[in-house]
This record gives sequence, C-alpha cells and structure tokens, in this order.
Amino acid sequence: MNRLSRLRQSKAILNMTGMGVPSANKFIWPIFLVNGKGVKTQIPNMPNQFRYSIDTLMIDLDQVLKRSNIGGVILFGVCDDPVNQKNGNADFSYSEENPVVKAIPLLKKAFPSLLICCDVCICSYSSHGHCGILDENGRVDHDVSNVVLSKSALSYAAAGADCVAPSAMVDGQVREIRTTLDSNKLFNTIIMSYSTKFASSFYSPFRTASDCAPSFGDRSTYQLPYNNANAAILESITDEKEGADILMVKPSLCYLDILSKIRAASSRPLAAYNVSGEYAMLCAAAQNGCGDLKKMARETILSVFRAGTDIFISYWANQYAEIFES
Ligand code: PBG
Repeated sequence: MNRLSRLRQSKAILNMTGMGVPSANKFIWPIFLVNGKGVKTQIPNMPNQFRYSIDTLMIDLDQVLKRSNIGGVILFGVCDDPVNQKNGNADFSYSEENPVVKAIPLLKKAFPSLLICCDVCICSYSSHGHCGILDENGRVDHDVSNVVLSKSALSYAAAGADCVAPSAMVDGQVREIRTTLDSNKLFNTIIMSYSTKFASSFYSPFRTASDCAPSFGDRSTYQLPYNNANAAILESITDEKEGADILMVKPSLCYLDILSKIRAASSRPLAAYNVSGEYAMLCAAAQNGCGDLKKMARETILSVFRAGTDIFISYWANQYAEIFES
C-alpha cells in the first residue's frame, strides 16, 4: 500500500529524508556602524539589532561568534553628524573618517576568519538620500555615480575588506568597481552584487536605522519593479557578465520564485537578503501573539535555502544559536 506518511513517522526518518539545517557559516549579519564610543542604540522595530560604535560592536560580535560560527558580516556606515557629513557628492562614503573604513582593519585583526563585507551605496551619505549622484533634473546620473561608487569600493577594499557589495542599482557599477579594484591590484576582493534588488516596501526599518530614506520621490527609476520577472533575471545575468563573483536577490520572501530562476540560470554563488521589514514583520507578529518567533524564523529561513540560496544575509544571524540549537 502506498502510504506517504510512512516516511513521516519519526524525527529520525524525517531528518534523514529532508534537508539539513543550514550551517551558521552560511549566514551574514548586517551591522550598522557609527563613529564615537560606547554607542549601542536600539533600532526601532528590530529587536536585538543596534547602531554600534566599533568598541561596543567588538563586545557583541565576540559573543555572537562564541555562540555560533557565523560566516560573515556586512557593514553599513551611518553618519553621526549628518549636517557636516552628508552632501550631494556623498564624499563621506569613501572618507578616511567613515566608520566602516575605520572598523575594517580592527575587525580583521580581532576576527581573522570572519568574512568582512561592505555595502557600497551612497544613500546614507548623500544629502538627498538617493542611491546615486543626481543630475540637474533630479535623476540618478549613472556615469557620475559610478565614479563615487568605485571610490567607496576601493576605500573599503584597500582597508582590507574581503568583499564589497554594490547595492545602488546603478548601471555598470559591477564593471566599474572591478576595473577600479584590478587597476589597484586588489584582484582578490570579492564583488557580491545586489544584482536583483527590488523597489520594495520592506526596507523601512533599515532606512530609519541608516538614515537613508529619499528626501523626495522614490527608488523606482533604478530599483526593480516586482511585476517583471524577466527584468529581474536579466539584471543578475548582466551583473554576472560584468564580473560579479556572487549574485543576490533582495528582499527574499516575496521573491522565492526569482531566486530559484536565477539559481537555474547561473552557476555563480547566490545570496538572499532577508531584509529589515521581513525581520520586523515576524518580530511584530510574535509580539502580538500570532506565533512562536523561533519556529516562524526557522520556517522562513528554510524556505529561502529551499529556493536555492547559498548565502543568507539576515538579522537572524546574530541569533543563530537560539533559533537552531535550542
Ligand atoms: C542601500 C541599502 C538598502 C538596504 C540595503 N542596502 C536600502 C534601500 O535600498 O533603500 C535595505 C536592507 C534592509 O532593509 O534590511 N541602498
């Protein structure tokens, strides 16, 4: 008799026939960094996530790595003095005073086996909050933007970052950054491109955390529309051709179909960014008694791996041990 439930009778057979728990070294933890000392500011709507200065980050990261061997971090710089640090050219994105530039060598020294990735974008450093430099009509000028994005990527790579992650959705950014890195002999710096990044409503808590909401308009002229799967796949394939080492889909949960299509279309490693709004959504649901947080997190995380991701960028990363080992 064909009884499909025969294979669901015990944990042993379920575990043996199913997918394993993704290991901690597949996780990358997004971190918000500011200049200063002793800063550890709670990010609204994101329990267990903070804006850190480097000293407080060292303490918390050490604790996280003692509990679980997560693979990496991705760093986002935040301005502590927006009036003086933000301008139309986003110069602070590659300044020696940028908190990310300063933190990289310290993190590499303290945690040599941790993969240090740096987000490359200007929205936190531009006075208007858009991801590229604007022309006189208020539109992103892709060519001018590439000059600034390349300078930022170079400053992080030269400081010792293992990986730079351009997230601006500026055309040609991967090619320009690769050319700049190579001409500075930084042949080994990995480019993880935010290759398929949607104009999503799930970035709100992040924009509060990194103070990068656009001051006018939205990001729909450069980020992807969610009603066009072909355009979404073409972006990743184009970035692969431009020299991206790792591709990415962002956000994750509404885009599992896109993730598995890109998985099939490319042999490059694939990352999924489980973004701030996706994290906040589960936390809020649990707080309102709608479900068990750890179980909802586990189910969510497994769905993204099942869709085919290799790498998982997520605010759950610093809680890996609690989610999977308790
Ligand atoms: C910068 C950037 C954003 C995120 C990552 N890099 C914000 C945006 O594009 O508006 C969002 C990440 C998150 O929501 O967790 N361009």
